Amino acid sequence: MATDPIQAAADAISARLKGAFPKIVLVLGSGLGPYADTLQDAVAIPYGDIPGFPISTVAGHSGRLVIGKARGLPVACMQGRMHLYEGHEAASLALPVRAFKRLGVETLLLTNAAGSLDRGMGPGSIMIVEDHINLTTRNPLIGPNDERIGPRFFDMSEAYDPALRADLKAAADAAGVPVRSGVYVQVLGPNFETPAEIRAFRILGGDAVGMSTVPETLVARHCGLKVAALSLITNLGAGLAGHALSHEETIEEAGKAAKSVSRLLDAFFAAQAS
Ligand code: HPA
Repeated sequence: MATDPIQAAADAISARLKGAFPKIVLVLGSGLGPYADTLQDAVAIPYGDIPGFPISTVAGHSGRLVIGKARGLPVACMQGRMHLYEGHEAASLALPVRAFKRLGVETLLLTNAAGSLDRGMGPGSIMIVEDHINLTTRNPLIGPNDERIGPRFFDMSEAYDPALRADLKAAADAAGVPVRSGVYVQVLGPNFETPAEIRAFRILGGDAVGMSTVPETLVARHCGLKVAALSLITNLGAGLAGHALSHEETIEEAGKAAKSVSRLLDAFFAAQAS
């Protein structure tokens, strides 16, 4: 067995596949996990079978890597993701992304459930992430830098790939799914925000707030992967909705809107396959 942890994870994944690993990985956020069950010719590998993959403990997030085809395009889905608020060190979220890079992946497509900072973007809306603000005070790249993986100081000026964002918009239009674009603010969680925090994030330039995505984007950009992200708006942020927020509401709303996200993803993969 390889002693390099990235190689050990990559080897464990390859050992379960007949052919090459896909060029694109889709990370499924809260309530979006069932999309992985729509892949054709799928092979599912529980995270527990891949050395170094952190195990998700959140309700609504199973933990499997599902590899198959979406609309003819080979795709790998992370069905279930890890969050900083579960107690995972930011750095431990790096290994899966780096293993994908080692397997030849070029693109990481992230999805998340998020609260809206704008009354005009209500539950069920889909937002293409154009940029982010990291308010977690954590960074998976803290510590010694391995120059073979990526540079110490790396550029984040176009972290969310402009061409992929345009492709997602075109796919949404083709599928008849309304989308807008905006800035995603990541907080550490696990609590929902206070109304004062929501007002502050709006002033900072945010459009949506959530508890994931930024660590994966940082690790992926560090190692040269292209990144795109979609936020599924499950609720108005605290104080905007006029009622208390709950994880149950997040899961329920994500489940309701998951159909339009699936249509958008299908149209995106169909276009990438052709
Ligand atoms: N805040 C943070 N994360 C979230 C929210 C929210 O309002 N909704 C879904 N994920």
